[in-house]
Amino acid sequence: MLASGRGSNLGALIAASDEGGYEVVAVGSDKPDAAALQRAVRAGIPTFVVAWSDYSDRQSFSMAVADALEAAGAAWVVLAGFMRVLSSEAVDRFAGRMVNVHPSLLPAFRGSRAVQQALDAGVAHTGATVHLVTTDVDAGPILAQEAVPILPGDDVSSLHARIQQVEHRILPGVMADLVSGRLPAGSRG
Ligand code: GRF
Repeated sequence: MLASGRGSNLGALIAASDEGGYEVVAVGSDKPDAAALQRAVRAGIPTFVVAWSDYSDRQSFSMAVADALEAAGAAWVVLAGFMRVLSSEAVDRFAGRMVNVHPSLLPAFRGSRAVQQALDAGVAHTGATVHLVTTDVDAGPILAQEAVPILPGDDVSSLHARIQQVEHRILPGVMADLVSGRLPAGSRG
């Protein structure tokens, strides 16, 4: 798993791992101080850091990330709040085996400010999406998504918290389905 932030999705994945039939084998980050890494350490999960500043370009950074994931024995890769775009060569090394969770109903509101974009647009619903990673950012095949209402008075914080409640349910569900072979051939939606 790759994360740059809080790691609440990591927590949800760990909590559901026994029931889901998968194991989180490593957590990597571009940020040495990411709370997600501390969460992994507390759970006894190996961690690694690939710092953006140690590499001269996206390609060498991305290959180092892919090497670390392979060294950790990752069969599947989950991106949850990983704030770096990996090169197409790195994505191709995990083609069909790399999953991202995004806080909108894709294809609406791609990119890093998805929750703010939904508020700015004045839509009544946004949501959470789990999709396969392809070289187009936030545009790979959708594996699961669920709508979340936007309520009067919502700000980025309150809306993102409501979206994350959904993420924490659908991401472990997708991983359970992937490792058991029920996805992507099935019709989860
Ligand atoms: C999630 O809301 C995800 O949709 C977005 O980044 C957030 C990561 O949260 N891409 P966390 O680090 O798992 O708490």
